Amino acid sequence: TVGFGRQSIPANVRLSTTAKRVLEKRYLKKDDSGRVIETPEDMFHRVAKVMASAEHKYAPGTDTSRIEEEFYQAMSRLEFLPNSPTLLNAGRQAGQLSACFVLPVEDSIESIFDAVKQTALIHKSGGGTGFSFSDLRPAGDKVGELTEVAGGPVSVINIFAAAADYVRQGGVRRGCNAAILDVTHPDILNFISCKGDPNALTNFYISVVVTRDFMTKVRSGEDYDIINPHTGEVVRRLNAACVFDCIVDQAWKTGDPGLVFIDRINDDNPTPSIAPIRHVSGCGEQTLLPYESCNLGSISLPRMLKRDGERVVVDYEKLGRTVKMAIRFLDNVIDVNKFPTPEIEKATLRNRKIGLGVMGFADMLVLMGIPYNSEEAIFQADQIMDFIKETSHRASSKLAEIRGSFPAYEGSMYDVPGGRPMRNATCTSIAPTGTLSIIAGVSSGIEPSFAMVFVRNILDGENLLEINPYFEEMARREGFHSRELFEKLVSSNHLHDMECIPDWLKRLLVTAHRIRPEWHIRIQAAFQKYTDNAVSKTVNFPHEATREDMANVFNMAYDQGLKGITVYRDGSRAAQPLCTSESG
Ligand code: CDP
Repeated sequence: TVGFGRQSIPANVRLSTTAKRVLEKRYLKKDDSGRVIETPEDMFHRVAKVMASAEHKYAPGTDTSRIEEEFYQAMSRLEFLPNSPTLLNAGRQAGQLSACFVLPVEDSIESIFDAVKQTALIHKSGGGTGFSFSDLRPAGDKVGELTEVAGGPVSVINIFAAAADYVRQGGVRRGCNAAILDVTHPDILNFISCKGDPNALTNFYISVVVTRDFMTKVRSGEDYDIINPHTGEVVRRLNAACVFDCIVDQAWKTGDPGLVFIDRINDDNPTPSIAPIRHVSGCGEQTLLPYESCNLGSISLPRMLKRDGERVVVDYEKLGRTVKMAIRFLDNVIDVNKFPTPEIEKATLRNRKIGLGVMGFADMLVLMGIPYNSEEAIFQADQIMDFIKETSHRASSKLAEIRGSFPAYEGSMYDVPGGRPMRNATCTSIAPTGTLSIIAGVSSGIEPSFAMVFVRNILDGENLLEINPYFEEMARREGFHSRELFEKLVSSNHLHDMECIPDWLKRLLVTAHRIRPEWHIRIQAAFQKYTDNAVSKTVNFPHEATREDMANVFNMAYDQGLKGITVYRDGSRAAQPLCTSESG
Protein backbone atom coordinates (compact mmCIF):
# COMPACT_ATOMS: atom_id res chain seq x y z
CA THR A 1 0.00 0.00 0.00
CA VAL A 2 1.30 3.45 -0.87
CA GLY A 3 0.75 6.80 0.70
CA PHE A 4 -1.19 5.44 3.66
CA GLY A 5 -2.64 8.12 5.91
CA ARG A 6 -1.29 11.03 3.88
CA GLN A 7 -4.71 12.30 2.91
CA SER A 8 -7.05 14.19 5.17
CA ILE A 9 -10.67 13.06 5.19
CA PRO A 10 -12.70 15.99 3.87
CA ALA A 11 -14.81 17.31 6.73
CA ASN A 12 -16.72 20.06 4.99
CA VAL A 13 -19.55 19.12 2.70
CA ARG A 14 -19.86 21.89 0.20
CA LEU A 15 -21.41 21.57 -3.19
CA SER A 16 -18.85 22.09 -5.96
CA THR A 17 -19.40 24.70 -8.67
CA THR A 18 -20.31 21.96 -11.12
CA ALA A 19 -22.77 20.43 -8.65
CA LYS A 20 -24.45 23.79 -8.17
CA ARG A 21 -24.73 24.32 -11.92
CA VAL A 22 -26.26 20.87 -12.43
CA LEU A 23 -28.76 21.45 -9.63
CA GLU A 24 -29.70 24.88 -10.97
CA LYS A 25 -30.11 23.69 -14.53
CA ARG A 26 -32.15 20.64 -13.74
CA TYR A 27 -33.24 19.90 -10.18
CA LEU A 28 -34.18 23.08 -8.38
CA LYS A 29 -37.66 24.52 -8.67
CA LYS A 30 -38.08 27.44 -11.05
CA ASP A 31 -40.81 29.99 -11.48
CA ASP A 32 -42.64 30.59 -14.76
CA SER A 33 -39.91 32.91 -15.99
CA GLY A 34 -37.25 30.23 -15.42
CA ARG A 35 -35.77 31.85 -12.30
CA VAL A 36 -34.50 29.37 -9.71
CA ILE A 37 -36.64 29.68 -6.57
CA GLU A 38 -35.17 26.89 -4.46
CA THR A 39 -31.78 26.40 -2.78
CA PRO A 40 -30.12 22.97 -2.65
CA GLU A 41 -31.03 22.86 1.08
CA ASP A 42 -34.68 23.57 0.17
CA MET A 43 -34.51 20.72 -2.31
CA PHE A 44 -33.22 18.27 0.31
CA HIS A 45 -35.92 19.44 2.73
CA ARG A 46 -38.58 19.00 0.05
CA VAL A 47 -37.44 15.41 -0.62
CA ALA A 48 -36.98 14.49 3.08
CA LYS A 49 -40.44 15.74 3.93
CA VAL A 50 -42.18 13.68 1.27
CA MET A 51 -40.21 10.53 2.17
CA ALA A 52 -40.99 10.95 5.87
CA SER A 53 -44.69 11.44 5.09
CA ALA A 54 -44.80 7.82 3.86
CA GLU A 55 -44.42 6.71 7.49
CA HIS A 56 -48.03 7.75 8.17
CA LYS A 57 -49.22 4.79 6.17
CA TYR A 58 -47.81 2.45 8.82
CA ALA A 59 -48.21 4.63 11.90
CA PRO A 60 -51.05 7.10 11.36
CA GLY A 61 -50.65 10.37 13.23
CA THR A 62 -47.06 9.62 14.22
CA ASP A 63 -44.52 12.44 14.58
CA THR A 64 -42.19 12.09 11.60
CA SER A 65 -39.90 15.01 12.37
CA ARG A 66 -37.05 12.80 13.62
CA ILE A 67 -36.97 10.56 10.55
CA GLU A 68 -37.39 13.60 8.27
CA GLU A 69 -34.33 15.18 9.90
CA GLU A 70 -32.39 11.94 9.48
CA PHE A 71 -33.23 11.81 5.76
CA TYR A 72 -32.38 15.50 5.36
CA GLN A 73 -29.03 15.19 7.12
CA ALA A 74 -27.97 12.18 5.06
CA MET A 75 -28.71 14.00 1.80
CA SER A 76 -27.42 17.43 2.73
CA ARG A 77 -24.16 15.94 4.06
CA LEU A 78 -23.95 14.18 0.68
CA GLU A 79 -23.71 10.79 2.41
CA PHE A 80 -26.65 9.29 0.56
CA LEU A 81 -28.60 10.46 -2.48
CA PRO A 82 -31.69 8.92 -4.09
CA ASN A 83 -31.74 8.65 -7.90
CA SER A 84 -32.32 11.76 -10.01
CA PRO A 85 -36.11 11.44 -10.51
CA THR A 86 -36.61 11.43 -6.71
CA LEU A 87 -34.57 14.62 -6.27
CA LEU A 88 -36.32 16.18 -9.21
CA ASN A 89 -39.95 15.14 -8.71
CA ALA A 90 -40.59 14.54 -4.99
CA GLY A 91 -43.18 16.99 -3.72
CA ARG A 92 -43.90 18.23 -7.21
CA GLN A 93 -46.79 17.57 -9.49
CA ALA A 94 -45.05 14.90 -11.60
CA GLY A 95 -44.23 12.85 -8.51
CA GLN A 96 -42.61 10.01 -10.48
CA LEU A 97 -39.59 8.95 -8.44
CA SER A 98 -37.98 5.94 -10.14
CA ALA A 99 -35.04 5.73 -12.56
CA CYS A 100 -35.47 2.26 -14.01
CA PHE A 101 -38.28 0.66 -15.96
CA VAL A 102 -38.63 -2.29 -18.26
CA LEU A 103 -41.42 -2.72 -20.76
CA PRO A 104 -42.44 -5.86 -22.60
CA VAL A 105 -42.64 -5.63 -26.38
CA GLU A 106 -44.79 -8.35 -27.88
CA ASP A 107 -45.03 -9.37 -31.50
CA SER A 108 -47.93 -7.15 -32.54
CA ILE A 109 -48.41 -3.60 -33.79
CA GLU A 110 -50.65 -2.87 -30.76
CA SER A 111 -48.03 -4.02 -28.30
CA ILE A 112 -45.17 -2.20 -30.04
CA PHE A 113 -46.99 1.12 -30.16
CA ASP A 114 -48.42 0.77 -26.65
CA ALA A 115 -44.83 0.36 -25.48
CA VAL A 116 -43.73 3.40 -27.52
CA LYS A 117 -46.37 5.49 -25.77
CA GLN A 118 -45.42 4.17 -22.35
CA THR A 119 -41.77 4.87 -23.12
CA ALA A 120 -42.63 8.47 -23.90
CA LEU A 121 -44.50 8.81 -20.59
CA ILE A 122 -41.66 7.22 -18.62
CA HIS A 123 -39.01 9.43 -20.21
CA LYS A 124 -41.12 12.53 -19.68
CA SER A 125 -41.22 11.64 -15.99
CA GLY A 126 -37.42 11.26 -15.80
CA GLY A 127 -37.04 7.47 -16.01
CA GLY A 128 -35.09 5.29 -18.44
CA THR A 129 -36.29 2.13 -20.15
CA GLY A 130 -35.05 -1.34 -21.00
CA PHE A 131 -36.57 -3.61 -23.63
CA SER A 132 -36.10 -7.11 -24.91
CA PHE A 133 -36.95 -7.36 -28.58
CA SER A 134 -36.54 -11.14 -28.64
CA ASP A 135 -40.24 -11.90 -29.12
CA LEU A 136 -40.52 -9.94 -32.37
CA ARG A 137 -40.66 -11.94 -35.57
CA PRO A 138 -37.60 -11.43 -37.81
CA ALA A 139 -37.35 -8.94 -40.66
CA GLY A 140 -39.00 -10.23 -43.81
CA ASP A 141 -41.40 -12.57 -41.99
CA LYS A 142 -44.98 -12.67 -43.11
CA VAL A 143 -47.51 -10.50 -41.32
CA GLY A 144 -51.19 -11.49 -41.68
CA GLU A 145 -51.91 -11.68 -45.40
CA LEU A 146 -49.03 -12.70 -47.62
CA THR A 147 -48.14 -9.29 -49.05
CA GLU A 148 -46.99 -7.64 -45.80
CA VAL A 149 -43.57 -8.24 -44.32
CA ALA A 150 -42.31 -7.53 -40.81
CA GLY A 151 -39.63 -4.91 -40.20
CA GLY A 152 -37.88 -6.96 -37.49
CA PRO A 153 -36.30 -5.89 -34.19
CA VAL A 154 -33.78 -3.39 -35.58
CA SER A 155 -36.40 -1.32 -37.38
CA VAL A 156 -38.57 -1.40 -34.26
CA ILE A 157 -35.65 -0.17 -32.11
CA ASN A 158 -35.38 2.81 -34.44
CA ILE A 159 -39.02 3.69 -33.73
CA PHE A 160 -38.34 3.66 -29.98
CA ALA A 161 -35.16 5.68 -30.46
CA ALA A 162 -37.02 8.39 -32.37
CA ALA A 163 -39.75 8.55 -29.71
CA ALA A 164 -37.22 8.69 -26.87
CA ASP A 165 -35.23 11.35 -28.68
CA TYR A 166 -38.31 13.52 -29.04
CA VAL A 167 -39.11 13.47 -25.32
CA ARG A 168 -36.54 15.16 -23.08
CA GLN A 169 -36.50 14.07 -19.45
CA GLY A 170 -37.79 16.93 -17.30
CA GLY A 171 -37.40 19.02 -20.45
CA VAL A 172 -33.60 18.78 -20.18
CA ARG A 173 -31.75 15.53 -20.73
CA ARG A 174 -32.14 12.63 -23.09
CA GLY A 175 -33.15 9.41 -21.40
CA CYS A 176 -31.23 6.14 -21.54
CA ASN A 177 -32.53 3.01 -23.19
CA ALA A 178 -31.25 -0.54 -23.37
CA ALA A 179 -32.21 -2.93 -26.15
CA ILE A 180 -31.38 -6.58 -25.77
CA LEU A 181 -31.85 -9.48 -28.17
CA ASP A 182 -31.41 -13.23 -27.68
CA VAL A 183 -28.42 -14.66 -29.51
CA THR A 184 -30.81 -17.26 -30.98
CA HIS A 185 -32.91 -14.63 -32.82
CA PRO A 186 -32.78 -14.84 -36.65
CA ASP A 187 -31.87 -11.11 -36.87
CA ILE A 188 -28.98 -11.39 -34.43
CA LEU A 189 -26.21 -10.44 -36.90
CA ASN A 190 -28.12 -7.38 -38.06
CA PHE A 191 -28.67 -6.42 -34.41
CA ILE A 192 -24.99 -6.84 -33.50
CA SER A 193 -24.00 -4.26 -36.10
CA CYS A 194 -26.97 -1.87 -35.69
CA LYS A 195 -24.80 0.76 -33.95
CA GLY A 196 -22.00 0.47 -36.50
CA ASP A 197 -22.72 3.97 -37.76
CA PRO A 198 -21.59 6.35 -34.98
CA ASN A 199 -24.69 8.50 -35.52
CA ALA A 200 -27.13 5.60 -35.14
CA LEU A 201 -29.14 4.93 -31.99
CA THR A 202 -27.10 7.23 -29.77
CA ASN A 203 -29.73 7.04 -26.99
CA PHE A 204 -29.60 3.21 -26.87
CA TYR A 205 -27.20 0.75 -25.33
CA ILE A 206 -27.43 -2.61 -27.00
CA SER A 207 -26.51 -6.03 -25.61
CA VAL A 208 -26.73 -9.60 -26.81
CA VAL A 209 -28.40 -12.03 -24.42
CA VAL A 210 -26.29 -15.19 -24.14
CA THR A 211 -26.93 -18.42 -22.27
CA ARG A 212 -24.53 -20.86 -20.61
CA ASP A 213 -25.24 -23.24 -23.49
CA PHE A 214 -24.12 -20.60 -26.00
CA MET A 215 -20.91 -19.80 -24.08
CA THR A 216 -20.08 -23.53 -23.87
CA LYS A 217 -20.53 -23.80 -27.64
CA VAL A 218 -18.34 -20.74 -28.22
CA ARG A 219 -15.55 -22.62 -26.47
CA SER A 220 -16.13 -25.92 -28.23
CA GLY A 221 -16.69 -24.24 -31.61
CA GLU A 222 -20.09 -25.90 -32.07
CA ASP A 223 -23.13 -24.69 -33.98
CA TYR A 224 -26.31 -23.60 -32.21
CA ASP A 225 -29.98 -23.23 -33.19
CA ILE A 226 -31.43 -20.00 -34.56
CA ILE A 227 -35.12 -19.95 -33.74
CA ASN A 228 -37.97 -17.87 -35.16
CA PRO A 229 -39.77 -16.65 -32.01
CA HIS A 230 -43.04 -16.32 -33.89
CA THR A 231 -43.23 -19.91 -35.10
CA GLY A 232 -40.83 -21.62 -32.68
CA GLU A 233 -39.10 -23.24 -35.67
CA VAL A 234 -35.37 -23.75 -35.96
CA VAL A 235 -34.64 -21.77 -39.12
CA ARG A 236 -30.91 -22.42 -39.36
CA ARG A 237 -27.79 -23.07 -37.31
CA LEU A 238 -24.87 -20.70 -36.77
CA ASN A 239 -21.42 -21.32 -35.41
CA ALA A 240 -21.27 -19.97 -31.84
CA ALA A 241 -17.59 -19.01 -32.08
CA CYS A 242 -18.23 -17.05 -35.31
CA VAL A 243 -21.14 -15.12 -33.79
CA PHE A 244 -19.05 -14.41 -30.69
CA ASP A 245 -16.30 -13.06 -32.97
CA CYS A 246 -18.83 -10.76 -34.66
CA ILE A 247 -19.89 -9.42 -31.25
CA VAL A 248 -16.26 -8.83 -30.24
CA ASP A 249 -15.44 -7.19 -33.57
CA GLN A 250 -18.30 -4.66 -33.27
CA ALA A 251 -17.62 -3.98 -29.60
CA TRP A 252 -13.96 -3.39 -30.46
CA LYS A 253 -14.96 -0.94 -33.22
CA THR A 254 -17.73 0.98 -31.41
CA GLY A 255 -18.22 -0.14 -27.79
CA ASP A 256 -21.51 -1.90 -28.65
CA PRO A 257 -22.88 -4.48 -28.16
CA GLY A 258 -22.27 -5.66 -24.64
CA LEU A 259 -23.28 -9.07 -23.31
CA VAL A 260 -26.02 -10.03 -20.88
CA PHE A 261 -25.48 -13.36 -19.08
CA ILE A 262 -29.12 -14.28 -18.62
CA ASP A 263 -28.71 -17.61 -16.77
CA ARG A 264 -26.53 -15.92 -14.16
CA ILE A 265 -29.21 -13.22 -13.78
CA ASN A 266 -31.85 -15.87 -13.22
CA ASP A 267 -29.76 -17.59 -10.54
CA ASP A 268 -30.61 -14.53 -8.44
CA ASN A 269 -34.22 -14.07 -9.58
CA PRO A 270 -36.03 -13.61 -6.26
CA THR A 271 -39.43 -14.60 -7.69
CA PRO A 272 -38.86 -17.39 -10.24
CA SER A 273 -42.43 -18.61 -9.76
CA ILE A 274 -43.77 -15.36 -11.26
CA ALA A 275 -41.56 -15.49 -14.36
CA PRO A 276 -37.94 -15.78 -15.47
CA ILE A 277 -36.12 -12.45 -15.84
CA ARG A 278 -35.63 -11.42 -19.46
CA HIS A 279 -34.99 -7.67 -19.16
CA VAL A 280 -32.41 -5.21 -17.93
CA SER A 281 -32.85 -1.48 -17.30
CA GLY A 282 -31.54 1.48 -19.32
CA CYS A 283 -27.98 1.36 -17.98
CA GLY A 284 -28.04 -2.34 -17.10
CA GLU A 285 -27.97 -2.22 -13.29
CA GLN A 286 -31.51 -3.50 -12.81
CA THR A 287 -32.74 -6.94 -13.78
CA LEU A 288 -36.52 -6.70 -13.83
CA LEU A 289 -39.75 -8.44 -14.80
CA PRO A 290 -42.06 -6.84 -17.39
CA TYR A 291 -43.51 -3.50 -16.19
CA GLU A 292 -41.41 -3.49 -13.03
CA SER A 293 -39.75 -0.26 -11.99
CA CYS A 294 -37.08 0.32 -9.41
CA ASN A 295 -35.92 3.29 -7.41
CA LEU A 296 -32.23 3.54 -6.67
CA GLY A 297 -30.08 5.27 -4.10
CA SER A 298 -26.34 5.51 -3.60
CA ILE A 299 -24.11 5.90 -0.58
CA SER A 300 -21.06 8.09 -1.05
CA LEU A 301 -18.19 5.94 0.22
CA PRO A 302 -15.69 8.78 0.84
CA ARG A 303 -18.17 9.98 3.51
CA MET A 304 -18.02 6.60 5.27
CA LEU A 305 -14.39 6.79 6.41
CA LYS A 306 -12.66 7.50 9.70
CA ARG A 307 -9.15 7.85 10.98
CA ASP A 308 -7.64 5.02 12.99
CA GLY A 309 -4.29 6.38 14.19
CA GLU A 310 -2.26 6.93 11.02
CA ARG A 311 -4.62 4.95 8.86
CA VAL A 312 -7.84 5.86 7.07
CA VAL A 313 -10.38 3.03 7.40
CA VAL A 314 -14.05 2.37 6.63
CA ASP A 315 -16.33 3.49 9.46
CA TYR A 316 -18.54 0.40 9.47
CA GLU A 317 -20.67 1.69 12.27
CA LYS A 318 -21.58 4.79 10.27
CA LEU A 319 -21.99 2.77 7.08
CA GLY A 320 -24.37 0.40 8.90
CA ARG A 321 -26.51 3.30 10.15
CA THR A 322 -26.56 4.84 6.69
CA VAL A 323 -27.60 1.58 5.02
CA LYS A 324 -30.50 1.14 7.45
CA MET A 325 -31.67 4.71 6.87
CA ALA A 326 -31.33 4.28 3.09
CA ILE A 327 -33.38 1.08 2.97
CA ARG A 328 -36.19 2.75 4.89
CA PHE A 329 -35.92 5.81 2.63
CA LEU A 330 -36.11 3.71 -0.55
CA ASP A 331 -39.00 1.60 0.75
CA ASN A 332 -40.84 4.85 1.52
CA VAL A 333 -40.19 6.06 -2.03
CA ILE A 334 -42.37 3.20 -3.31
CA ASP A 335 -45.29 4.32 -1.15
CA VAL A 336 -45.26 7.97 -2.23
CA ASN A 337 -44.38 7.29 -5.85
CA LYS A 338 -46.74 8.27 -8.64
CA PHE A 339 -46.39 5.54 -11.24
CA PRO A 340 -46.65 6.41 -14.93
CA THR A 341 -49.16 3.62 -15.72
CA PRO A 342 -51.41 1.18 -13.77
CA GLU A 343 -49.47 -1.88 -15.08
CA ILE A 344 -46.22 -0.42 -13.77
CA GLU A 345 -47.78 0.34 -10.41
CA LYS A 346 -49.15 -3.18 -10.07
CA ALA A 347 -45.90 -4.94 -11.06
CA THR A 348 -43.74 -2.69 -8.86
CA LEU A 349 -45.90 -2.99 -5.75
CA ARG A 350 -45.93 -6.78 -6.04
CA ASN A 351 -42.15 -7.14 -5.47
CA ARG A 352 -41.19 -3.72 -4.03
CA LYS A 353 -37.69 -3.90 -5.53
CA ILE A 354 -35.22 -1.25 -4.47
CA GLY A 355 -31.58 -0.76 -5.41
CA LEU A 356 -29.13 0.59 -2.88
CA GLY A 357 -25.58 0.99 -4.15
CA VAL A 358 -22.45 3.04 -3.79
CA MET A 359 -20.57 5.87 -5.46
CA GLY A 360 -17.10 7.31 -4.95
CA PHE A 361 -15.40 3.91 -4.62
CA ALA A 362 -12.27 5.12 -6.47
CA ASP A 363 -12.07 8.26 -4.32
CA MET A 364 -12.45 6.17 -1.19
CA LEU A 365 -9.49 4.05 -2.26
CA VAL A 366 -7.37 7.17 -2.82
CA LEU A 367 -8.21 8.41 0.66
CA MET A 368 -7.25 5.02 2.07
CA GLY A 369 -4.01 5.01 0.06
CA ILE A 370 -4.97 1.99 -2.05
CA PRO A 371 -4.47 1.89 -5.86
CA TYR A 372 -7.56 0.75 -7.82
CA ASN A 373 -5.58 -1.96 -9.58
CA SER A 374 -4.46 -3.87 -6.50
CA GLU A 375 -5.40 -6.95 -4.49
CA GLU A 376 -6.15 -4.66 -1.56
CA ALA A 377 -8.78 -2.83 -3.64
CA ILE A 378 -10.46 -6.16 -4.50
CA PHE A 379 -10.44 -7.05 -0.80
CA GLN A 380 -12.05 -3.73 0.17
CA ALA A 381 -14.72 -4.06 -2.55
CA ASP A 382 -15.57 -7.52 -1.29
CA GLN A 383 -15.74 -6.47 2.38
CA ILE A 384 -17.80 -3.35 1.81
CA MET A 385 -20.39 -4.86 -0.50
CA ASP A 386 -20.75 -8.00 1.64
CA PHE A 387 -21.48 -5.72 4.59
CA ILE A 388 -23.92 -3.53 2.61
CA LYS A 389 -25.85 -6.54 1.31
CA GLU A 390 -26.07 -8.21 4.71
CA THR A 391 -27.06 -4.98 6.48
CA SER A 392 -29.60 -4.00 3.83
CA HIS A 393 -31.26 -7.42 3.91
CA ARG A 394 -31.46 -7.26 7.69
CA ALA A 395 -32.96 -3.76 7.47
CA SER A 396 -35.52 -4.87 4.87
CA SER A 397 -36.39 -7.87 7.02
CA LYS A 398 -36.89 -5.63 10.07
CA LEU A 399 -39.17 -3.35 8.05
CA ALA A 400 -41.14 -6.43 6.99
CA GLU A 401 -41.83 -7.25 10.65
CA ILE A 402 -43.74 -3.97 10.90
CA ARG A 403 -44.91 -3.33 7.35
CA GLY A 404 -45.25 -6.90 6.06
CA SER A 405 -43.27 -8.78 3.41
CA PHE A 406 -43.58 -7.84 -0.26
CA PRO A 407 -46.90 -9.24 -1.59
CA ALA A 408 -45.27 -11.91 -3.81
CA TYR A 409 -43.15 -13.26 -0.92
CA GLU A 410 -44.87 -16.64 -0.97
CA GLY A 411 -42.94 -18.92 -3.31
CA SER A 412 -40.03 -16.45 -3.51
CA MET A 413 -36.39 -17.34 -2.80
CA TYR A 414 -36.82 -16.03 0.78
CA ASP A 415 -39.82 -18.27 1.46
CA VAL A 416 -37.86 -21.29 2.69
CA PRO A 417 -37.90 -23.06 6.06
CA GLY A 418 -36.21 -20.73 8.54
CA GLY A 419 -36.18 -17.89 5.98
CA ARG A 420 -36.73 -14.32 7.11
CA PRO A 421 -39.54 -11.98 6.08
CA MET A 422 -38.48 -9.43 3.46
CA ARG A 423 -40.00 -6.08 2.63
CA ASN A 424 -38.20 -5.86 -0.70
CA ALA A 425 -37.55 -8.63 -3.24
CA THR A 426 -34.20 -6.99 -4.01
CA CYS A 427 -32.25 -4.43 -1.97
CA THR A 428 -28.97 -3.77 -3.78
CA SER A 429 -27.92 -2.53 -7.20
CA ILE A 430 -24.94 -0.53 -8.43
CA ALA A 431 -26.01 2.35 -10.63
CA PRO A 432 -23.77 4.45 -12.87
CA THR A 433 -24.54 7.53 -10.70
CA GLY A 434 -23.78 9.74 -13.70
CA THR A 435 -25.42 12.81 -12.21
CA LEU A 436 -25.56 11.84 -8.54
CA SER A 437 -21.79 11.54 -8.38
CA ILE A 438 -21.46 15.08 -9.77
CA ILE A 439 -23.83 16.38 -7.09
CA ALA A 440 -21.95 14.44 -4.38
CA GLY A 441 -18.60 15.54 -5.82
CA VAL A 442 -17.16 12.02 -5.98
CA SER A 443 -16.01 9.51 -8.60
CA SER A 444 -18.94 7.77 -10.27
CA GLY A 445 -20.22 4.40 -9.06
CA ILE A 446 -17.38 1.92 -8.78
CA GLU A 447 -15.47 3.34 -11.78
CA PRO A 448 -11.86 4.38 -11.52
CA SER A 449 -11.13 8.09 -12.00
CA PHE A 450 -11.05 9.09 -15.61
CA ALA A 451 -8.52 11.91 -15.33
CA MET A 452 -7.16 14.18 -12.61
CA VAL A 453 -7.77 17.34 -14.60
CA PHE A 454 -10.41 17.47 -17.32
CA VAL A 455 -13.15 19.44 -18.98
CA ARG A 456 -16.57 18.15 -18.06
CA ASN A 457 -19.34 18.61 -20.56
CA ILE A 458 -22.57 18.92 -18.61
CA LEU A 459 -26.16 18.99 -19.76
CA ASP A 460 -26.30 20.13 -23.34
CA GLY A 461 -22.94 21.59 -24.01
CA GLU A 462 -21.80 23.60 -21.00
CA ASN A 463 -18.10 22.92 -20.31
CA LEU A 464 -16.52 23.17 -16.87
CA LEU A 465 -12.91 22.58 -15.86
CA GLU A 466 -12.51 20.07 -13.02
CA ILE A 467 -9.50 19.22 -10.93
CA ASN A 468 -9.69 16.12 -8.74
CA PRO A 469 -9.77 17.60 -5.21
CA TYR A 470 -7.52 14.89 -3.73
CA PHE A 471 -4.99 15.40 -6.48
CA GLU A 472 -5.02 19.13 -5.86
CA GLU A 473 -4.58 18.65 -2.12
CA MET A 474 -1.70 16.23 -2.60
CA ALA A 475 -0.10 18.48 -5.17
CA ARG A 476 -0.05 21.27 -2.60
CA ARG A 477 1.24 19.03 0.17
CA GLU A 478 3.95 17.42 -1.96
CA GLY A 479 4.95 20.82 -3.34
CA PHE A 480 4.30 20.34 -7.06
CA HIS A 481 1.11 22.39 -7.28
CA SER A 482 1.30 24.75 -10.26
CA ARG A 483 -1.03 26.30 -12.79
CA GLU A 484 1.24 25.18 -15.60
CA LEU A 485 1.00 21.56 -14.54
CA PHE A 486 -2.80 21.66 -14.48
CA GLU A 487 -2.87 23.35 -17.87
CA LYS A 488 -0.57 20.69 -19.25
CA LEU A 489 -2.72 17.94 -17.77
CA VAL A 490 -5.96 19.22 -19.20
CA SER A 491 -4.57 19.10 -22.71
CA SER A 492 -2.76 15.81 -22.11
CA ASN A 493 -3.83 13.27 -19.53
CA HIS A 494 -0.32 11.90 -19.17
CA LEU A 495 0.09 12.14 -15.43
CA HIS A 496 2.59 9.30 -15.59
CA ASP A 497 4.90 11.36 -17.85
CA MET A 498 5.18 14.26 -15.42
CA GLU A 499 8.52 14.17 -13.70
CA CYS A 500 7.46 16.44 -10.86
CA ILE A 501 4.93 13.92 -9.58
CA PRO A 502 6.33 11.29 -7.20
CA ASP A 503 6.02 7.65 -8.27
CA TRP A 504 3.93 6.58 -5.28
CA LEU A 505 1.36 9.19 -6.23
CA LYS A 506 1.30 8.10 -9.87
CA ARG A 507 0.63 4.57 -8.67
CA LEU A 508 -2.13 5.73 -6.29
CA LEU A 509 -3.89 8.05 -8.75
CA VAL A 510 -3.95 5.54 -11.59
CA THR A 511 -6.63 6.50 -14.16
CA ALA A 512 -9.10 4.32 -16.09
CA HIS A 513 -7.01 3.92 -19.27
CA ARG A 514 -3.95 2.74 -17.42
CA ILE A 515 -5.77 0.05 -15.48
CA ARG A 516 -5.67 -3.33 -17.20
CA PRO A 517 -9.20 -4.49 -18.16
CA GLU A 518 -8.75 -7.58 -15.96
CA TRP A 519 -8.76 -5.33 -12.88
CA HIS A 520 -11.99 -3.69 -14.01
CA ILE A 521 -13.59 -7.14 -14.26
CA ARG A 522 -12.27 -8.28 -10.89
CA ILE A 523 -13.60 -5.16 -9.13
CA GLN A 524 -16.96 -5.55 -10.87
CA ALA A 525 -17.06 -9.24 -9.91
CA ALA A 526 -16.28 -8.46 -6.26
CA PHE A 527 -19.24 -6.06 -6.14
CA GLN A 528 -21.52 -8.36 -8.15
CA LYS A 529 -21.04 -11.20 -5.66
CA TYR A 530 -23.08 -9.20 -3.13
CA THR A 531 -25.46 -7.30 -5.41
CA ASP A 532 -29.04 -8.59 -5.77
CA ASN A 533 -29.51 -6.82 -9.08
CA ALA A 534 -26.63 -6.00 -11.41
CA VAL A 535 -23.60 -3.72 -11.46
CA SER A 536 -23.32 -0.93 -13.99
CA LYS A 537 -19.74 -0.58 -15.16
CA THR A 538 -17.78 0.08 -18.33
CA VAL A 539 -14.57 -1.83 -18.85
CA ASN A 540 -12.13 0.60 -20.45
CA PHE A 541 -9.56 -0.54 -22.99
CA PRO A 542 -6.68 1.51 -24.31
CA HIS A 543 -6.89 2.44 -27.99
CA GLU A 544 -4.25 -0.12 -28.94
CA ALA A 545 -6.08 -3.08 -27.36
CA THR A 546 -6.72 -5.92 -29.83
CA ARG A 547 -9.88 -7.88 -30.58
CA GLU A 548 -8.29 -10.82 -28.83
CA ASP A 549 -7.78 -8.74 -25.66
CA MET A 550 -11.46 -7.92 -25.76
CA ALA A 551 -12.53 -11.53 -26.36
CA ASN A 552 -10.45 -12.60 -23.37
CA VAL A 553 -12.15 -10.04 -21.16
CA PHE A 554 -15.65 -11.08 -22.34
CA ASN A 555 -14.72 -14.65 -21.42
CA MET A 556 -13.34 -13.56 -18.09
CA ALA A 557 -16.55 -11.63 -17.33
CA TYR A 558 -18.52 -14.83 -17.92
CA ASP A 559 -16.18 -16.97 -15.82
CA GLN A 560 -16.18 -14.51 -12.92
CA GLY A 561 -19.97 -14.54 -12.64
CA LEU A 562 -20.82 -11.05 -13.94
CA LYS A 563 -24.43 -10.52 -15.03
CA GLY A 564 -23.40 -8.40 -17.98
CA ILE A 565 -20.47 -6.57 -19.50
CA THR A 566 -20.12 -3.24 -21.27
CA VAL A 567 -16.85 -2.21 -22.86
CA TYR A 568 -15.32 0.88 -24.37
CA ARG A 569 -12.07 1.16 -26.30
CA ASP A 570 -10.57 4.59 -26.00
CA GLY A 571 -11.13 6.79 -29.04
CA SER A 572 -13.56 4.38 -30.74
CA ARG A 573 -16.51 6.75 -30.63
CA ALA A 574 -16.55 10.46 -31.38
CA ALA A 575 -18.60 11.78 -28.48
CA GLN A 576 -17.69 10.96 -24.91
CA PRO A 577 -19.20 12.58 -21.85
CA LEU A 578 -15.75 13.34 -20.41
CA CYS A 579 -12.99 14.72 -22.59
CA THR A 580 -9.25 14.91 -22.35
CA SER A 581 -6.95 14.96 -25.31
CA GLU A 582 -6.01 11.37 -24.56
CA SER A 583 -9.57 10.23 -25.20
CA GLY A 584 -10.15 12.46 -28.25
O1 CDP B 1 -27.08 9.70 -11.33
P1 CDP B 1 -28.49 9.50 -11.74
O2 CDP B 1 -29.42 9.19 -10.59
O3 CDP B 1 -29.03 10.64 -12.55
O4 CDP B 1 -28.61 8.25 -12.75
P2 CDP B 1 -27.63 7.04 -13.07
O5 CDP B 1 -27.25 6.34 -11.82
O6 CDP B 1 -26.53 7.50 -13.97
O7 CDP B 1 -28.58 6.07 -13.91
C1 CDP B 1 -29.59 5.33 -13.27
C2 CDP B 1 -30.72 5.04 -14.22
O8 CDP B 1 -31.34 6.26 -14.58
C3 CDP B 1 -30.33 4.39 -15.53
O9 CDP B 1 -30.36 3.01 -15.46
C4 CDP B 1 -31.40 4.87 -16.48
O10 CDP B 1 -32.52 4.00 -16.41
C5 CDP B 1 -31.78 6.22 -15.92
N1 CDP B 1 -31.15 7.31 -16.70
C6 CDP B 1 -31.82 7.82 -17.79
O11 CDP B 1 -32.91 7.36 -18.10
N2 CDP B 1 -31.27 8.81 -18.54
C7 CDP B 1 -30.06 9.32 -18.26
N3 CDP B 1 -29.56 10.29 -19.04
C8 CDP B 1 -29.35 8.82 -17.16
C9 CDP B 1 -29.92 7.81 -16.39
